Amino acid sequence: MKNIQKTVWVTGASSGLGLHTAMALRDDGWQVIAGARSFTGGQKDGMTCLPLDVTDEESVREFCRRAEEISPPDALVQCAGMLVLGSCEETSTEEFRRVMDTNYLGMVRMNREVLPRMRERGGGKIVMFSSINGLLGIPFQSAYTASKHAIEGYAECLAMEAKPFGIQVMLAEPGDHRSGSDKYRPHAAAMTDASPYAEAYESATARIHHDETNGSDPDVLGRKIAKILDRKRIPLRKRIASPDQHLAVYVHRFLGSPTNGAVLSSYYISKKKDK
Ligand SMILES: NC(=O)c1ccc[n+]([C@@H]2O[C@H](COP(=O)([O-])OP(=O)(O)OC[C@H]3O[C@@H](n4cnc5c(N)ncnc54)[C@H](OP(=O)(O)O)[C@@H]3O)[C@@H](O)[C@H]2O)c1
Repeated sequence: MKNIQKTVWVTGASSGLGLHTAMALRDDGWQVIAGARSFTGGQKDGMTCLPLDVTDEESVREFCRRAEEISPPDALVQCAGMLVLGSCEETSTEEFRRVMDTNYLGMVRMNREVLPRMRERGGGKIVMFSSINGLLGIPFQSAYTASKHAIEGYAECLAMEAKPFGIQVMLAEPGDHRSGSDKYRPHAAAMTDASPYAEAYESATARIHHDETNGSDPDVLGRKIAKILDRKRIPLRKRIASPDQHLAVYVHRFLGSPTNGAVLSSYYISKKKDK
């Protein structure tokens, strides 16, 4: 067993990539303190599971207080996340707010609690789960895409500020993995058959669902994160994606918006043939 004395706090660890990453870290010898809303406290599968709602300042403070009583963090891995599927026009402000509050401000809240603890200890590692959607947009995932772009920009700032204190920051940028639950992917309330976007929406959400269901192995991702956290130096960005998703990022970066938009639109929005 390696890293026997090291402690990692993992948010969003009740399912999906958070759970797989937490288990990989546990298997690698880390003491794992896991947080999620559905946890009620206690030990599960060799991890300490504490209740945590990252949208609630008091819950974040209480999680950190209780976790610190057990063991302060050498590393923080932030996986808590959700998305709302819907058109830009019909996704409500409240639905946008929910996604930003969980995915972006949830990480900000956790970091504000953890940074002083890591500074006092002379360092630490913070991993924030972004996404390929932190690098490029796809149709009908605007709230999620905006939240992940926010994390990307925020992490660049944080990395520079925290470095003098020995704190390293990494953005994990997964492509599609077979892990997410539909529970965390609700449709915007307005996305009914009466929506002017209904046909394109149906095509895009079917594609999104297909790609996630047939995505990469979440165990492999968990092990990759655990391996990176074992290193002395961690990179600012680590993309963990299939070759076609690496290619999509390349096309987005180097071929410019019109080409990228045409490629992604034809991939996600299939036009029904004229009758
Ligand atoms: N799956 C993929 O293909 C994929 C691709 C790229 C990026 N990601 C990112 O990876 C992370 C995990 O996604 P996933 O799809 O694997 O997981 P998921 O199955 O959708 O699980 C989401 C996790 O977040 C927790 N969560 C949600 N809202 C929360 C809140 N307010 N406070 C605390 N915890 C909260 C959930 O637990 P509770 O309900 O118990 O709170 C659950 O553990 C997310 O950040 C996601 O954006 C996933």
